[in-house]
Amino acid sequence: MFRFGRRAYSTAKPLFPTKTIRSLLSDSPQSNVTLRGWVRSVRQQKQLSFATINDGSTLKGIQVILNDAASASRLSTGACVELHGRLTDSPGKEQQKELQVDSVKVLGECDSTYPLQKKRHTLEFMRTINHLRSRANTGSAVLRIRHAAGEGLQKFYSDQEFIQVNTPLLTSSDCEGGGEVFNVAPSDFFKKPVYLTVSGQLHAEIMATSMGRVYTFGPVFRAEESMTSRHLAEFWMAEAEMAFIDELDQLLDVTEASIQQTTLHVMDKCLDDLTFFNQWVDKRLLDRLRTSVDKPFVRMTYTEAIDTLQRSKKTFQFPTTWGSSLQSEHERYLASDDCCGRPVFVTDYPKELKPFYMRENPDGKTVGCFDLLIPGIGELVGGSMREDRYDVLQQKMKAANMNCEDYQWYLDLRKYGSAPHGGYGIGFERLMLWLTGLDNVREVVPIPRWVGHCKY
Ligand code: 4AD
Repeated sequence: MFRFGRRAYSTAKPLFPTKTIRSLLSDSPQSNVTLRGWVRSVRQQKQLSFATINDGSTLKGIQVILNDAASASRLSTGACVELHGRLTDSPGKEQQKELQVDSVKVLGECDSTYPLQKKRHTLEFMRTINHLRSRANTGSAVLRIRHAAGEGLQKFYSDQEFIQVNTPLLTSSDCEGGGEVFNVAPSDFFKKPVYLTVSGQLHAEIMATSMGRVYTFGPVFRAEESMTSRHLAEFWMAEAEMAFIDELDQLLDVTEASIQQTTLHVMDKCLDDLTFFNQWVDKRLLDRLRTSVDKPFVRMTYTEAIDTLQRSKKTFQFPTTWGSSLQSEHERYLASDDCCGRPVFVTDYPKELKPFYMRENPDGKTVGCFDLLIPGIGELVGGSMREDRYDVLQQKMKAANMNCEDYQWYLDLRKYGSAPHGGYGIGFERLMLWLTGLDNVREVVPIPRWVGHCKY
């Protein structure tokens, strides 16, 4: 006899004993409601006491009302509680529903050393208590937006018939060739040097040249010493890789659509959280996001970008001659209101500035690649057409002093049915800066790692 599980999940009994506050807030008034969460604030008055309870499912949480002073005195800021009572429409404008509490159960006490009292704390202070960061508005709003952004990206890829693949974190290749890799110990385990991956791209190319369209979404690691607000040692990247992309413009179309669809998805799912960031962090956030989904991104070649920088009235610290790297100051200027005022693709960089795998253009000087620069942040996405000609690739690897034997598998992809292909990687934390208006990647990852910092 075979035994099957429940036939329809819709008829199954609820998986969780209590509803989230988010779902209670959209319920109709009812008695016998139980909710669980953490006390954000308590206000005791003569007759009645008010408390705000938050369980992470919404920005504002729910206001609860207690008419018995003894129960109210058991609620302290930070405590974890279970409350039972009546859900009613709220007379106030601030919230739709409130809970008239009948009984209080304290699940976890909280003493007066709790660092989150009812006042605004700086982001720097919050970073020193990372384990409590998501108990406050900014930290929890970041996590909900992060979830929606990941969901939006993955939905976009699914809708466009990409297959999600999982690329390894342990690798013997250095995709970007920058040498900014973390070595993995013990070094004799694999009988060869092994690193934490800096990008899943080379492995994704294996799958793209058999499955067509693939994407990978996971953590990558870079031993960059940079202490900037845009660099982490561990960050997340969404990398798409596609066979049968014939020209760079197609790749830009896909990149643009993936960012715009994700932005729309987040605007749809997290409007409260975005409004919070718009009010407290960046007053132009919502306007900027709306414009970015309405108007196409600007496209210019590296050569045009250099020309634009040279013609600008701004003084730059770093050179703006053809052949020099675009520095953060240049990238920010190009995307700023003084120049393009919206996301801008810069394409076709000199080949010397870019990694070995990018496809060389017919001019012999540039490669078919792009960086997507966004206002206030700079580079958000990097991508390229991949070099799909065996001989040219081999030559480029030699020029980059790579050991071709180690990368024979990568060359093989060009030997056995090579396909025109291309792809790109979105820095997920930088996407989060774009979506929240925050200006430091350390604020948008739950537990940040950067040079000298690996707490927890
Ligand atoms: O431009 P990058 O180095 O491109 C690649 O790694 C390609 N292999 C991706 C691909 O084509 N599949 O990195 C991609 C993006 C950057 O545009 C930036 O947004 C982000 O990753 N990034 C970082 N984010 C946080 N901390 C760092 N240290 C970062 N380095 C790059």
